[in-house]
Amino acid sequence: MSASVPFPQNQRALQSMMDWAEQLIIDGPDPRNGARPFSHFTGTLGQTITPDGMGWEQAFALFTDEIVPSTRPFHHPTSLSFVAAAPSPASLGLDAALGAAEIFAGNWDGGSGAIYAENQALSWLATLAGWPENAGGVFVSGGTLGNLSALHAARVGWSGPRPDRFAILCSTEAHSSIRAVASVMDVDMVEVATDPEGRIRLDEAAAALAAHDGIFAIVANAGATNCGAVDDLRGLTDLARQYGIWCHVDGAYGLAAMADPEARPLFHGIEQADSFVVDPHKWLFAPYDSCALVYRDPSRGAAAHGQRGAYLDTLDHDAWNPSDFALHLSRRARGLPFWFSLAAYGERAYATAIRQTLDTAGKIAEGIAATDGLDLVLGPQLSVLLFRAVSHDAGALAAWAETNRRSGALLCLPTTWHGETVLRICVVNPSTDPDEVLAVLRTLQ
Ligand SMILES: Cc1ncc(COP(=O)(O)O)c(C=O)c1O
Repeated sequence: MSASVPFPQNQRALQSMMDWAEQLIIDGPDPRNGARPFSHFTGTLGQTITPDGMGWEQAFALFTDEIVPSTRPFHHPTSLSFVAAAPSPASLGLDAALGAAEIFAGNWDGGSGAIYAENQALSWLATLAGWPENAGGVFVSGGTLGNLSALHAARVGWSGPRPDRFAILCSTEAHSSIRAVASVMDVDMVEVATDPEGRIRLDEAAAALAAHDGIFAIVANAGATNCGAVDDLRGLTDLARQYGIWCHVDGAYGLAAMADPEARPLFHGIEQADSFVVDPHKWLFAPYDSCALVYRDPSRGAAAHGQRGAYLDTLDHDAWNPSDFALHLSRRARGLPFWFSLAAYGERAYATAIRQTLDTAGKIAEGIAATDGLDLVLGPQLSVLLFRAVSHDAGALAAWAETNRRSGALLCLPTTWHGETVLRICVVNPSTDPDEVLAVLRTLQ
């Protein structure tokens, strides 16, 4: 008697799964998804894990009919909140294929071909930043883990006398992940005030450095999440050099704009930084989840990371092992969809796509400024803008935002700027239509 196969194939179901994925990549997401209340979802899905299983067909029907419609389609062109996503069709196609290839890309031994291609994409980013040829790093899951990995390397690289408390210097507009990282690392945060546009005040940064002896790294914003501000990178890297400390650039959102030659001068000074992050899943037209973490001198990343164990002794530790550059060991080749999209469409398509989003943000800003009852408060800085609707208080804004979210017309949510509740827009999708957006915004008049 042959042994039973616990996980049999189901070719027909597999085919219909592939067909569904193909059609979704062609059609794009339904903007009304995610509008159903959570109670609906829990009620319909019920208990799904049973001793004998429900079979591929039934489980996949739950995925397509219940699970996906209960998730927000951030990559729809009307999705303008947080920092949304806009993966290119090629990147989504490769991501689906990548899942089937099941590549272990934690070390060269397991994933050399994939890692080689990922490294080309990392080198492309490093070159845009004006970094030397030997710069490199790794794709991690997101900006949070990229920031943590870079800042851990920064502290390991500290060569001064050990202070009572280590600290990270950043502006009050630093992303929430920096506070989370400081908490994980058990270090303090020295938060420096910004100018009215949200850029760190250099004079205050210099004063803070003079006053605290434990600051081991400066985190510069290259596209602050709430307001799009890009700090004076030259000023901050100069200060870091003066104090012999690390300068990390958090460009999880904004550094994507380096792909547009016209926008690149905004990041002047980055060539002197020690590390940066930029998330292809935000504004570089690749799917979740990927963050490019790049070190100017990768050996400084490797000095802080990498795992050793008897079971890892057979690996070639002189090879390019991605697990040596961040806090992880096993990893998928999550940089490949980004590499594929770049390879398939080329650099010029990337420049055009970024330019289109910047133009769209500009057109929306002009339309807001020209509309009675709407005030442009800030921006656009990169592709972020803030505005107020004069006849709406915070409660009315929240209700307006929820109505449009549920109908799928627009995802545009409030934020706080200098104590005031305002609406925020961040454009990352080249297919966003400014006229369509403005038509919805005019309902605020
Ligand atoms: C500037 C900045 N840094 C870090 C992050 C964190 O990135 P992730 O959500 O990929 O962890 C974000 C996310 O929006 C961000 O905008």
